[in-house]
This record gives sequence, structure tokens and C-alpha cells, in this order.
Amino acid sequence: MISIAKPVMGDEEKKAVMEVLDSGIIAQGPKVKEFEQNFAEMCGVKHAIATTSGTTALHMALLAHGIGPGDEVITSPFTFIASANSVLFVGATPVFVDIDPKTFNMDPSLVEAAITPNTKAIMPVHLYGMVCDMGPLMEIAKKHGLVMIEDACQSHGAELEGTHAGAFGTGTFSLYPTKNMTSAEGGMITTDDDEIDELCRVIRNHGMRRRYFHDQLGYNFRMTDVHAAIGNAQLMKLPANNEKRRTNAKFYNENLQGVTVPFVPQGFHHVYHQYTIRVPDGKRDAVREYLKENEIGSEIYYPLPIHQQGFYIEQFGEQTFPQAEFAAEEVLSLPVHPLLSQSDLEKVVKTINSFMSKG
Ligand SMILES: Cc1ncc(COP(=O)(O)O)c(C=O)c1O
Repeated sequence: MISIAKPVMGDEEKKAVMEVLDSGIIAQGPKVKEFEQNFAEMCGVKHAIATTSGTTALHMALLAHGIGPGDEVITSPFTFIASANSVLFVGATPVFVDIDPKTFNMDPSLVEAAITPNTKAIMPVHLYGMVCDMGPLMEIAKKHGLVMIEDACQSHGAELEGTHAGAFGTGTFSLYPTKNMTSAEGGMITTDDDEIDELCRVIRNHGMRRRYFHDQLGYNFRMTDVHAAIGNAQLMKLPANNEKRRTNAKFYNENLQGVTVPFVPQGFHHVYHQYTIRVPDGKRDAVREYLKENEIGSEIYYPLPIHQQGFYIEQFGEQTFPQAEFAAEEVLSLPVHPLLSQSDLEKVVKTINSFMSKG
């Protein structure tokens, strides 16, 4: 079976974990600090704050920016549920804008119409490993005095004209095993803002600035040194693994037929967390089935946009975002991870092309 995702684990990760276990400092200690420094450097930002997941990174970033009840956050309906759920965690309201059908990312031309006096933040999601069109989004945020929180959970190492995902505003990353790098479970916040950095660290540790004196409500969102050791070893491999993903994607781009391959505008450095095609004419599910028969994994990210999820309809009523809904019917993500062999890639191409050529 050619799997859709596979973490690249080696001796470096094993050695790093054993070192932590032998050191006796297993909870948050020097490895977390080292991982944070290295991650900040990779993104080109001043601070990185390690946490337990991408979901807690989003939650903490919203809390640190003081977003709460009565506030609105503009985001994409075509993403993993945690993006919008994090807005609900803080008692605020996610306001969706539709996606650009070519990039699957938030369409900046629709954002201004969604702004109300209650809007506090824009939260673009850099889906599948490609940064959103941040130029116009940053301009809108500046013009309306809005906070920029990037859901970069799928975009470690992605860039737009030399600026890394997570370096435009407050960045949030997931370190889940299927991502381009992992700490088993984990997350990271990135920021240039000293105040946001300090607030995240306080929120992460029970709202505590002085030992057992609690100035504000906080949580236990601390990463352990065991997870940080894995994350650090993975971070060292990220550039090479991203390059391998890009090489795999190039092979697909050059050889797949009858489907729409990912669109990468000029200046965007895509790191292919997912390689997502559009399958036309209602054939997506049949292609997927055919791939499965041929022992090739694939996945639909995402089959139901967030505004159509049951509990969102209960809270916010029926809404429609046609491009997100149409994408949900057509998208199919193919294996693109660094452990694929040339014969795996050729098999995927041959299987899809033979299905699509049947008409
Ligand atoms: C776009 C997006 N946002 C948020 C998350 C949440 O990250 P985690 O699973 O680490 O909590 C994910 C993870 O899949 C994601 O893909």
C-alpha cells in the first residue's frame, strides 16, 4: 500500500529522545527552549512559543490578542475544523469568506465585505502547504486595524517572496505526525511582538508570572522536552524533506493527465503538505476507489466545509460559500511524502491516467 502520509523518523529522533530520558528533565526544559529558538530562526521571527498542538497554538494566539465574546474573526470555511473551533473556544464568532478556487485559500477580494464593527482579526489558513495571498490581506488588516493570525498548521517552511509562513502576523503551527515535520503531537506560535510572546508563555503555564501567583486565567499548554527533542531533530530535516515533496509534486505536475494539478502563482514557495488535484465531472470518488483497488492511499481534505458541519448550522444557520462547497466535491490529495520511491510516483500517475483516459 502506498500510504497518503508517513512521518520520516530516523536515528536522530531516537537518539534525541533517549538523551532527554537519560537527562532526567522530561517536562518543559532546555530542549523546548532550543527547539523554540531554532523554529523562530527557521521562520525568520523573533519568538517561537512551543505548545501541545496546532489547536492549542490557535487558541492561545487568539487569547493573547485579547479576542473574546462579541468579537468576529474572518477565516476560511475550507479547512480543518480546528481553525474555526479555536475562535469558538474564546467565545468569538468565526465569519467565513469563500476561497479562491485555484489556490483553495481565502479569497482576499471578499474580505472587506465581511468586516463589521465587531471584526477583530483576520485568520487566513495556508492550506496544503501554500501561503495565502498575504499582500492584499496585510493591507486590509492595516487599513482596518485588524490583528493577523495565520493558521500555518500545514505550511512549515512555505514562503511568499522570501517571507515565511508565520512571519506575517502571529503564526500558528501544528506538529502532528502527518505534517511536514512533527514532534509526535505539538504546536508552535511565532511572533515578532514581545508582548504577545510574554502573554503566550503566561497563558501556556496557568496564567503564572511568579510561582503560584496567578494574574490571569491560564492553561497547561506546555510542550515536554521529549516532544521538543523529536521536533528539533525533525526541524533539521525540514528543508530536505520539503525539497523532496516539491520534487515529487513536480513529477506529478509534469505527468498527470485529465485532472487539475495545483496552481502555484509567481512568488509562492509551495511545500506540498498535500498534493491536491481537482477531479472533474463528478469522477472524484470513483478515482479514489480505483486508487484504493490499486493499493494507493488518497484522502479528501475536506469533504464537508465548516459552515456545513452540523453544529455550525445549529449555531449560525444555513450559509453558502459556493467555491468551498464545489472544492469539497472535487478535491483529492495524493501521496507526496518524502518516503515515496520513483516507482511509487510512477504507479500513482499510471493509475490515475489510465482511469481518466477511459472517459
Ligand atoms: C489547518 C489546520 N489547522 C489546525 C490544525 C490543528 O492542529 P493539531 O491537530 O495539531 O491540533 C490542523 C491539523 O490538522 C490543520 O490542518
